[in-house]
Amino acid sequence: MNLKNRDFISLMDFSPSELEGIITRAEAIKDGSLKVERHLHRKTLGLLFSVASTRTRISFQVAARQMGGHAEHINWEDTQLINHESLIDTAEVTSRYLDALIIRSYNMNQYGKGREALNLVSQHANIPIINALDDKDHPCQVMGDLLTMKEKLGEDFRKKHVVFTWGYAKRQKSPGVPHSMLVAASLLGMNITFAYPEGFDLDAEYVDFARERIEKNGGSLLVSNDLLNASEGADVIYVKSWKALNMSSEEDYEQRERIRPDWCVSEHHFQRAKSDAIFMNCLPLIRGEQATADVVDGKHSVLYDQAENRLHIQKAILHELLR
Ligand code: CP
Repeated sequence: MNLKNRDFISLMDFSPSELEGIITRAEAIKDGSLKVERHLHRKTLGLLFSVASTRTRISFQVAARQMGGHAEHINWEDTQLINHESLIDTAEVTSRYLDALIIRSYNMNQYGKGREALNLVSQHANIPIINALDDKDHPCQVMGDLLTMKEKLGEDFRKKHVVFTWGYAKRQKSPGVPHSMLVAASLLGMNITFAYPEGFDLDAEYVDFARERIEKNGGSLLVSNDLLNASEGADVIYVKSWKALNMSSEEDYEQRERIRPDWCVSEHHFQRAKSDAIFMNCLPLIRGEQATADVVDGKHSVLYDQAENRLHIQKAILHELLR
């Protein structure tokens, strides 16, 4: 595996062995068998964010520090982008100062524009660009989630039954996590069911990619509009809300309020799942929206281990891109 100087924008750009290699690297960093304390010596990362973040921002900042480097948080609104300086000039200039640029920027009412911006920066920066969540993907989150699944379910986690479900949230969120999970599952030959209400289909570009890769790599992809039925026999129930891609903001809000009662993960769903099934969510989450408080804080939940793994996987990603 040689990922030196590559961008990390979508998992579609990586092979199954590259994804496995990053997970293996994260395991070694986490258990201390791979020492990375000086790996980023004299290196500076930029974190250019226009959208709020707790886990992604802090885990990258801590990863950089613990690897001997430094991460500078750059609030989008404090740059000249706010005065219409171009992304091209921003990319050209910041890549003269930084060793990698980690970007989070999107607006869910302009689906696809966030990715266009990321691609433009990538074309004009000669340093690795890392996607910290845009309107299409959240690759770093899903890499951390795969590490968590491997830890909790064992080496053969690919053979387990993962149910990835839409859940109600008042806020309209990016479909980055489900898209990246769909891609990762298809590359690794996992068995995954996506459960979501009618009208909340994922981007056909991602579904087509996944179906084609499943033909090659094995695994399975099922789609259900009934969360209770989909939960039957699950090893993982992973809940995540996203905005409907083909509805206006108003239509989406109206629809999600109407269907809310059927799309909150509760003990009813875990009664259908395997007895040792785990509950996953990338956080942030409001108890009573995507899942009930007893599930979020109950015996199935691995949410804080999942959040911790963001740190270990960010280190592995930085280790590979900045060799
Ligand atoms: N899961 C996730 O990306 O969390 P933040 O939005 O807090 O970074």
